[in-house]
Amino acid sequence: MRSIIDILDLSPAEIGELIATARDIIDDPAKYAEKCRGKKLATLFFEPSTRTRMSFEAAMYELGGNVISMASAASSSAAKGESVADTARVISCYADIIAMRHPKEGAALVAANNATVPVINAGDGGHCHPTQTLADLLTIHREKGRFDDLTIGFCGDLKFGRTVHSLINAMSRYPGIRFVLISPEELKVPSYVKKDVLQKNSIPYVQTTDLEGAMPDLDILYMTRVQKERFFNEEDYLRLKDSYILTPEKLKNAKPDMNILHPLPRVNEISVKVDDDPRACYFKQVLNGKYMRMALILKLLKEAGTI
Ligand code: NCD
Repeated sequence: MRSIIDILDLSPAEIGELIATARDIIDDPAKYAEKCRGKKLATLFFEPSTRTRMSFEAAMYELGGNVISMASAASSSAAKGESVADTARVISCYADIIAMRHPKEGAALVAANNATVPVINAGDGGHCHPTQTLADLLTIHREKGRFDDLTIGFCGDLKFGRTVHSLINAMSRYPGIRFVLISPEELKVPSYVKKDVLQKNSIPYVQTTDLEGAMPDLDILYMTRVQKERFFNEEDYLRLKDSYILTPEKLKNAKPDMNILHPLPRVNEISVKVDDDPRACYFKQVLNGKYMRMALILKLLKEAGTI
């Protein structure tokens, strides 16, 4: 049973196919409106979410399918001590596909190993978030028309930001990619990402604390929220939370066609004054995420023989 836990579970060719499907859905949504008629998606979210859960749900509805979900982790049997493995087996009896978010790294893999239907990782702790990456990739593709020869700046919480880890992994497979990693010392990209992805694939990267200094080189600026829920103490969070705030002033030396991405939710890290800048793409990303989730649900249900 094919599940998607990590963005690397999809080959670059498959990502190209998902993008083609998403673009076809955008052009002709009516063609897809009945594709999942009678099928059920279960959303299993053990962590807060607005976009990801609703985007999965909207995606399934727009494919003509149905959605079942639990109200919250606190109201589920997890609160009684049920294991992720058991929950995954149980939900497989009710649904054709599962989207799961969990605070523990590796939880989605455990679910996939025990479910009898495809599992999509909707975020596992500070590890990865492949469907946000699909949203990011469609946005980059629609804005830039390519994935190669890009200088991508990541700014903010590069340590705990799972969307950052997944997008670095995804972009590392295209030629001519360069990363500029902008963060406070304490929130640098984890050493496993540097070793296993950047160094292993000889990807050029620089680490800096200086957002404005890095700005002129960037084709894409990926801003992130400081991940409060992953901090061990409030004091560190309060000290680091406003490390970077993107304002129109700071964009003065940016390329005129640089794209500003953010997985959202934003807290303080992008001033609302940036929202009207034509380079701001974070609300487009939200919509792109729905189309890519539609494409992914279709692909996995087809491969499973469910549709
Ligand atoms: C991200 C996440 O949950 O990792 N949000 C999302 O899914 N769009 C980013 C975040 O919470 O900061």
